[in-house]
Amino acid sequence: MNESAKTYSVPSEFLEASNIRAEQYASMYAASLADPEAFWGEMGCRLDWITPYTKVKNVSWDKNDLSVKWYEDGVLNVSVNCIDRHLDARGDKTAIIWEGDEPSDSHSYSYRELHREVCRFANVLKAIGVKKGDRVTLYMPMIAEAAFAMLACARIGAVHSIVFGGFSPEALAGRIVDCDSTVVITADEGLRGAKTIPLKANCDAACDIAANAGKPVAKVLCIKRTGGDVAWDTGRDVWYHEAVTSVSDDCPAEPMNAEDPLFILYTSGSTGKPKGVLHTTGGYLVWASMTHEYVFDLKEEDVYWCSADVGWVTGHTYIVYGPLANGATTVMFEGIPTYPDASRFWRVCDKHKVSLFYTAPTAIRALMREGDGPVNATDRSTLRVLGTVGEPINPEAWEWYFNVVGGGRCPIVDTWWQTETGGAMIVPLPGTTPMKPGSATLPFFGVEPALVDAEGNELSGATEGNLIIKQSWPGQMRTVYGDHKRFADTYFSAYPGYYFTGDGCRRDEDGFYWITGRVDDVINVSGHRMGTAEVESALGSHAAVAESAVVGFPHDIKGQGIYAYVTCVAGLEPDEALRKTLIQHVRKEIGPIATPDNIQFASGLPKTRSGKIMRRILRKIAENNFDNLGDTSTLADPTVVGDLIENRLNR
Ligand code: WTA
Repeated sequence: MNESAKTYSVPSEFLEASNIRAEQYASMYAASLADPEAFWGEMGCRLDWITPYTKVKNVSWDKNDLSVKWYEDGVLNVSVNCIDRHLDARGDKTAIIWEGDEPSDSHSYSYRELHREVCRFANVLKAIGVKKGDRVTLYMPMIAEAAFAMLACARIGAVHSIVFGGFSPEALAGRIVDCDSTVVITADEGLRGAKTIPLKANCDAACDIAANAGKPVAKVLCIKRTGGDVAWDTGRDVWYHEAVTSVSDDCPAEPMNAEDPLFILYTSGSTGKPKGVLHTTGGYLVWASMTHEYVFDLKEEDVYWCSADVGWVTGHTYIVYGPLANGATTVMFEGIPTYPDASRFWRVCDKHKVSLFYTAPTAIRALMREGDGPVNATDRSTLRVLGTVGEPINPEAWEWYFNVVGGGRCPIVDTWWQTETGGAMIVPLPGTTPMKPGSATLPFFGVEPALVDAEGNELSGATEGNLIIKQSWPGQMRTVYGDHKRFADTYFSAYPGYYFTGDGCRRDEDGFYWITGRVDDVINVSGHRMGTAEVESALGSHAAVAESAVVGFPHDIKGQGIYAYVTCVAGLEPDEALRKTLIQHVRKEIGPIATPDNIQFASGLPKTRSGKIMRRILRKIAENNFDNLGDTSTLADPTVVGDLIENRLNR
């Protein structure tokens, strides 16, 4: 039986209280596609504008004249929309609940307190020389100051670029240099699952690399988190807790054009180094806040928790900007799902009365492996909606999340989107959309998906193909920072006039979408995007490596694991020690999140006569699937395949 045969209707108690109805979804969706100007003109009013916009949409998806503008003559400030405008009605409402790594460690900030913290942070940034338009790199643990720093940048018009704390000094330096960032905000150490992460030391190493590249970092603003020992450069480093004592509690917000940049976030593509995805001010915030409200059926009294890290786009849109623009209470969690034990997520839900919870399939699978006991030991009765994001969720994990975690009461919202899209794109609305385990279901307002074949022909009905989007939406990325041509080439050249997602997708007979995974050389490890080319370039920078090819392979917990084929330089006999060395080398070059699960040494790689590596074959071998290798007749040397299989079997 096909997976799509199983359908769950919206639990009835949920349906009654739901913010919108199925009929409403259908009519709003139709209106959003038929007249985007009118629809988004109205939706833009959900924000407070200093100067209201008169133009709504001005978009060209022609790759030679690529330009995306929404609300282009409007003026607003994101931090005012996320904080100041709530002060009258919600000044004492909790804005952020911070839950530390240790269960005894938590703290809440009201909207009024958030206002003070963000103003002070913004004044510290100004005091160390940050100005409107400057790029500020954040390399932070999950502490409330990460959110303060983001909002402080937005307040003064600086553009933040957050680098996930699991990236290495080399990776951090590359991102600092790429966007010419002269200020970095970090902490002495991070703390996750009782282990410390040497953020300041990594940052120091990154600053050295940046300086050698001719792009010195002028200031490092450091938050004291653990009190661990750190090296100090008195000319460059500034302790936040010292600087903040001499600034005012008030900081006027900078009026920003709707199309002024809000943030850069580096993400992996199929080729080359990571791209700086640029999001701007007005359209992004409309999209973040609107999707957050509708996808989670947000109500005033909800306590919302997204367990992501602010280093990823999910943390930007669904921990900070979406929830705060909506005046919601948002939880920030410093720790990991399994510390001190596998009940932690659900204990946090009970402790803070979380009603809306959003996490990744990889976390669900890891917890599912621990059995139902750790879940059943908790109450979870406050939960209303459960969300997932980052990769396809396998139906078994979906069922477990729905039945065991949610007790069959809570709709699951499987949200498909990307760093590039700014927010959720294909997603059930919890009170209206029937659910099928493993399907992201139907498009959000304004999203017009289509499936195409390799030649670009649009496919109709129940079918499978490459997923494209046919018209712009306010939250889409505006460019690749510093490389507009790469923006055009990556997303708008495969299928002219349309946005190409890089994902494969199936549409069933009910019109529901099932994302099947990336069709390019991007892999998804525990919901983290990784370019195979990045891992190959890290391997290639080691003297022992002549050539490498990296593919994803199915992994029970991570979704996909990293499998590397390596040929060594002539005369070198690879051994176990070299395997370990290469794994360490990749960790050093990119970070622990890129650790190869498997390295297979090979005497040669399968290449066509023109020298192109046939990854299809390598993927099959990594999967132990030797029977369907497909046509190997175009290989320059077909005997390589037999050797690879033999090696694989001997591992
Ligand atoms: C994958 C994360 C299936 C997809 C927000 C996409 C998903 C990539 C889902 C983007 C989902 C994300 N079902 N696949 N619900 N959500 N993906 O940029 O392959 O880190 O292209 O953004 O993750 O990853 P990114």
